[in-house]
Amino acid sequence: MITVEQIMNALKSILDPELKKDIVSMGMIRDLVIEGNNVKFTLELTTPACPYNSEIEQEVRNKMQQLGVNLDMKITARVMEGRSIDISEILSGVKNVIAVASGKGGVGKSTVAVNLAVGLSKSGAKVGLLDADIYGPSIPLMLGLTPGLIADENGKIIPQEIYGIKVMSMGLAPQQSDNVGIWRGPIISGIIKQFLTDVNWGELDYLIVDLPPGTGDAPLTLAQTIPITGVVVVTTPQTAAMNIALKAALMFKKLGIPIIGVIENMSYFECPHCNNITNIFGIADEQKIVEKFGAPLVGRIPLNAKIVEDSDEGKPVALADTDYAKVFERVARNVAGRVSVIAVEMQQHLIQ
Ligand SMILES: Nc1ncnc2c1ncn2[C@@H]1O[C@H](COP(=O)(O)OP(=O)(O)O)[C@@H](O)[C@H]1O
Ligand SMILES: [Mg+2]
Repeated sequence: MITVEQIMNALKSILDPELKKDIVSMGMIRDLVIEGNNVKFTLELTTPACPYNSEIEQEVRNKMQQLGVNLDMKITARVMEGRSIDISEILSGVKNVIAVASGKGGVGKSTVAVNLAVGLSKSGAKVGLLDADIYGPSIPLMLGLTPGLIADENGKIIPQEIYGIKVMSMGLAPQQSDNVGIWRGPIISGIIKQFLTDVNWGELDYLIVDLPPGTGDAPLTLAQTIPITGVVVVTTPQTAAMNIALKAALMFKKLGIPIIGVIENMSYFECPHCNNITNIFGIADEQKIVEKFGAPLVGRIPLNAKIVEDSDEGKPVALADTDYAKVFERVARNVAGRVSVIAVEMQQHLIQ
């Protein structure tokens, strides 16, 4: 007869490659039932978008096979909370807030934010997308959304929903002011606070926030209003762009916000005819990026006309089943994996 101890001991030898902890102490094994030689349990992963999910699953199957039992395994995922305790209870149903920032404008920050949201949503996570770029809201266009918002019975704004993603943007407000360009700091702060407090976001695993470029009022307001899990920094490979991105990253670090990772966009060009790869803007050394930013490179995204076309048509490239979609799916998985690591560290810190 196989015992609970034997099962747990076998499973204890399996480490989550990223969290560096065994799956039993992580509480990933649930509802264990043993009936003779039949073993039944649920494997609860830390995010549906974890890059190592299939690896862990396979290892569990191998271990159970070695023990010679019949395994009936259910696989679920419960995203961990990566936010410190929030006294104000703003966004209490949101487990992780991921800010997407850049130094310069035009590096593809909004493109990354949208496709990251799509990638995470495709994996089964509950995702929201907040366009905090008040001056130049581009998210609605990229998702094919038109202005129009309604309120719920408590007077809170209901975000628009598309591709399973809850979206809020200044560009969805019915009457857009023509002089949006002259709005100043305090007004921008006010609007961002409203986006967080007066919008009914409901339950979310990840709220992605597309910040305006640079180190202005928006990131400060965001950081002062809600606990952020971390920030994804988007840059292009040129040294100048990278240096400005680094400035933005340093500002977040000063605010005590972890850097989830760096995304190098417009990284290279693959010729559609001969598949030759050209590094149009040069090659940034990965090791240098890691050293400078103190965070991993979570993705290199190629320069591709399809990304522009799809975006202009309101259909993000990550939706399709193409190589480009796969690039973004990988980025989403890497980000989700890093967010799990940060969440675990944060929870350990809270417990200590
Ligand atoms: N990898 C890419 N390949 C080709 N075009 C891209 C890529 N990433 C972004 N773009 C295009 O570059 C422009 C700027 O991107 P956007 O996401 O709006 O930048 P940001 O939000 O940083 O200002 C858009 O037209 C977008 O479609
Ligand atoms: Mg943008």
